[in-house]
Amino acid sequence: MSDTEQELNAQKREMPEPVEGSRPIPWVVLVIVGAVFVSALTYLGMSKQVNDPSIGDHRVAADFVVAKGSTTGPVDGAQVYAAQCVACHQATGAGLPGVFPPLAGSEWVLGKPSVAVQIVLHGIDGSLTVKGTVYKGQMPTFKDKLSDKEIAAVLSHVRSSFGNQAGKIDDALVKAQRAATQSHEKPWNGDAELASLK
Ligand code: HEC
Repeated sequence: MSDTEQELNAQKREMPEPVEGSRPIPWVVLVIVGAVFVSALTYLGMSKQVNDPSIGDHRVAADFVVAKGSTTGPVDGAQVYAAQCVACHQATGAGLPGVFPPLAGSEWVLGKPSVAVQIVLHGIDGSLTVKGTVYKGQMPTFKDKLSDKEIAAVLSHVRSSFGNQAGKIDDALVKAQRAATQSHEKPWNGDAELASLK
């Protein structure tokens, strides 16, 4: 056998190149899918909208955002009290004997509004006499934590709760007091500094 003949035979033994075939989707399946599709559209077309779309109040997500430190709208003093003061002065405003002074019936709360504002703005460090008892604790400063409105609201709340009956404190007073003691950095030194302001 010559070389050419051998090559020819080898070619004859080759199988044909495989081709990718396709299997059509059975018509039954097509009919079922088609029927489901048509009946779905018919159902949609025939069904009635139960809920009146105008029932909603037309509010959008942006309407629910509460701006942090917002200066508009009223501030709830009771809420500020519950968040910032209740841990020490207690829900009843009675404080904790020997540790945290009472706000109920306190001469500092019921006295000059400007002094109460100064106490909340700058806090107290040093002994303070409240209703005849001397406290040697620390009252935190709130000047960077609470806005004028919030301080006014929480003090108005304190002055009219726990049996207290004193007038409201207005945010303009807090603003003025804040401006007047802006350079003051340390907490008030208890009676030593505050008694003269009473
Ligand atoms: C970490 C505890 C603590 C928190 C929180 C706190 N206070 Fe005080 N507060 C004290 C202490 C302690 C004193 C007394 C200071 C001292 O012993 O020298 C005091 C004193 C006072 C006084 C003067 C004394 C009196 O009893 O009337 C007022 C008014 C007052 N706090 C109001 C507030 C208000 C309003 C808040 C919330 C915004 C608040 N405090 C949050 C601990 C606290």
